[in-house]
Amino acid sequence: MLRHTRRRLADHLRPALLSAAALSALAVSAGAAPASAAEVVVYCSVNEDWCREAVTSFERQTGIKVLMTRKSSGEVYAQLRAEKDNPKADVWFGGSGDPHLQAAEEGLTEKYQSTKLEDLYPWAVKQAEVSGYRTVGIYMGALGFGYNKDLLAQRKLTPPACWSDLVKKDFADEIQVADPNSSGTAYTMLATMVQLMGEDAAFDYLKKLHRNVNQYTKSGAAPAKAAAQGETMTAIAFQHDLLVEAKAGAPVAIVAPCEGTGYEIGSMSLVKGARNPETAKAFYEWALTPDAQALGAKARNYQIPSNSGAAIPPESPRVDKMKLIAYDFARYGSSAERTRLLAKWDRDVKSMSR
Ligand code: G6P
Repeated sequence: MLRHTRRRLADHLRPALLSAAALSALAVSAGAAPASAAEVVVYCSVNEDWCREAVTSFERQTGIKVLMTRKSSGEVYAQLRAEKDNPKADVWFGGSGDPHLQAAEEGLTEKYQSTKLEDLYPWAVKQAEVSGYRTVGIYMGALGFGYNKDLLAQRKLTPPACWSDLVKKDFADEIQVADPNSSGTAYTMLATMVQLMGEDAAFDYLKKLHRNVNQYTKSGAAPAKAAAQGETMTAIAFQHDLLVEAKAGAPVAIVAPCEGTGYEIGSMSLVKGARNPETAKAFYEWALTPDAQALGAKARNYQIPSNSGAAIPPESPRVDKMKLIAYDFARYGSSAERTRLLAKWDRDVKSMSR
C-alpha cells in the first residue's frame, strides 16, 4: 500500500518543477499517512479563475488532490482565527498582504523559510522578513480606480483623475468599493488614504466618499465587474482587476490617481497546525516557481509575479510610471493597527446614513 502510494506520487511528479525539498517532503508524507496525506486544503484569495488554474496544474503535476475554497483576504483571516484550535486549511494562497501579516503576528500561520527566497524580488522577501517568515510575497499590484466610459459620456462628466474627484457631487451614488473588513483590496484603500493624507483628513475623505458609494461589496474585484457591466459608473479596485474587464472588451478606463496610490504585496502563508503540513509545503514551494507564477497571467490576472525568473505580463499596469506611496506594511499589517482602523471605519464611516 505504502509502496503503491509512493509509486503513484512518483509517477505524477515532474521533478523539474518541484524542488528537492518538496520532493523529500512528499516522500515523508507518503510514508507517514499515505491516503489522506496526498491532499492539501487551500484557502485561495486571488480571483477564482487563477485559483482554478493553480489547482488544476498542481494536481496534474504532483498527483496531490487540492481542496480549494475561494474567499476574500479579510474573510480568510477571520476564518483562520475562528478555526485556530481546529485548523481546517493547510495553505492560504494569495490575497493582499496586510491580513496575512496580521495572521502571522497572531500566530495563525507557520514559520517557514523557502530556499526560493533568493529568487524573489526584495519586496516579496521583505514581506517574509516583516512577518518573521510566516508569510511571503507572491505578487504585487497597485490600487486605483476605473470608470465606465459610456456612462461617464452619457452624463457628460469630466473623467476623474484624482482621489479628490471621487468625492465630488457628480459621483453621488456612482462609486462602488469593497468593505475593508472582508476585502484586502478595500483595506489597502483605507490604509492608503491614512498614509497619503494623515488619519484625520483620511477619515474626513472616507466619510465624504461614503455619501457617493452605492454599495460596499464583499470581494475587492466585484466593483470592477460592476463597472464593466454598467451597474456603477466608478469602481475603486486594484488596477489589474480593472484591466481584466477592459481586456475583455468592457468600456472601462483605468486611473492611477494623481495624488499617488498604495499597493499590495499579495502573499501566501502556511497554516499553523495544518493537517497536511508536508503537502502544504509542496504546494508552497511549487507556488514560488516561475512556472506556477506564470499561471496568473494565463488566467488573465496581471499582477507582477514575485519570482524574478517569472515573466512580468506585458499588460501589467506600469508601477514604475505611477506615484506609489511608501506603504508601511509592518505598521498597517500589524494586528493592533488593522483592528483599530477597521473598528474606526465601522463606527465613523459605515454606520453613517447616506
Ligand atoms: C483580487 C486581486 C488580488 C487581490 C485580491 C484581494 O483577486 O486580483 O490581487 O489580492 O483581489 O481580494 P479581496 O477580495 O480580499 O479584496
